[in-house]
This record gives sequence, C-alpha cells and structure tokens, in this order.
Amino acid sequence: MKPVVIRSGVSACSAAGVPGLSAGLRKQLECVLIPPAAIQGQIRRLARAIVRDHGRRKEPLQMVVVLKGGAFFGVHLAQEIFRQSGPAVRLNFIHASSYGGATASSGSVHIEGRLPAVKGGRLLIVEDIVDTGLTLWRLKQHLLKKRNAASVRICALLSKPDRRLPWLARKLEIDYTGFVIPDLFVVGFGLDCAESFRELPFIAAVKAGAPPA
Ligand code: IMP
Ligand code: MG
Repeated sequence: MKPVVIRSGVSACSAAGVPGLSAGLRKQLECVLIPPAAIQGQIRRLARAIVRDHGRRKEPLQMVVVLKGGAFFGVHLAQEIFRQSGPAVRLNFIHASSYGGATASSGSVHIEGRLPAVKGGRLLIVEDIVDTGLTLWRLKQHLLKKRNAASVRICALLSKPDRRLPWLARKLEIDYTGFVIPDLFVVGFGLDCAESFRELPFIAAVKAGAPPA
C-alpha cells in the first residue's frame, strides 16, 4: 500500500472550508495540511492492507498503540478493520518517550505500560508519526527481544523521512504508512504541541513562534 506523499507543506495547505478552524486557531496554525476526509480515506486503505495481510489467521490482531499520540489513530484503525470484516482486534496501550535523542543516535527511549503475554505473538505497533525513528526502533527491539514477540509490524499515520537518523534510514522498516510529509511540526489527530491540539480532526502545521494555546 502506497502512502500519500505531501511534498510541499505550505503550498499543499488550505485553511478554508475546514470546520472548527476558529480565528484563535488561525493565529496558531499555519494551515490545514491534511483534512479529515483525507485522513479517513487513508485509514480505510491502511485497514484494507492490514486485513489482507492478516489473511485467514484466526487469532486476533494484537495492536500495541503508542500513547498518547497514537490513541486517536489506533481507535479509528480498529473500527475500520471491523467495518472491513477483518480479524478481532485487541487494543494494548504503551507509553514510549525519547529522551535527549532528537538528533543524536545515542538517545534512549523510556517504555512504560502493561502488555498482555506477547510471547510468540504477532504484534502491530500503531504510532502517530515517525520522526527520527528512534522511538519505534527501540520499541520494536523491546517487543522482539525482551518480550519475545514472534513478529512486530509497524503502522504509522505520518512519516517524516527527511528527519530520520541516518543509521535508521534503511534499518527501520515502516510496514504501513499513511502519509509522507515534509519536515514540518504538525498537530491534530492525536499529535500535540505542549499537550494542545490533540483533539483536532485534521492535521495542521503549527506557525513558527505561535503563542501557546
Ligand atoms: P522519533 O522517536 O523521533 O521518531 O519521535 C517520535 C515522536 O516524537 C512521536 O511519537 C511524537 O510524539 C513526537 N513528534 C515527532 N514529530 C512530531 C510533530 O511534528 N508533531 C508532534 N509530535 C511529533
Ligand atoms: Mg508519539
């Protein structure tokens, strides 16, 4: 399944016609990069690919949703898998945060949260955005090596390949990607800026130097 590639941030942007973009939001957000209908359409396509790949296996699909950002995406994806008569879904939530590693390859990732017995299981990590790639790389290694999962696939709503750490560029495979976006800071659909904007039903680019919400 091919991701939708958004090449130029601001030229791909529209602030018009999106419900809920108040005057207050217009002060903080540059533009709407991905409107709600486009997100929903791509989640449908991601669900279709996941259902197809799961095949006729009887066991439920074990999702590992990365909090907090992945929560909105995970819930929508699970519902879409149901609509497409896919496998039963088990939703598991995990907290992963990276420290001091935004640009350095030595950054460490703190993983917190209870998971059911995943030994021997096939897991699907559900994440909002892949930036440097460090969080997902460490989480995948944790699930495979420390929790002995049989396989770990990754589904990310957004990916910023221009930000990937060089040593991860080839190593970290994203099995399902919704949208490839340029190097912009984005919010909405679970993504935040200092805990604001998660509830927006669209993805928007934040204005540089915008006042905090
Ligand atoms: P990575 O480990 O550098 O790939 O970082 C991934 C995490 O950083 C994501 O799960 C987000 O929580 C956060 N992040 C990266 N880029 C953005 C963005 O544009 N907006 C909001 N959060 C972001
Ligand atoms: Mg995240």
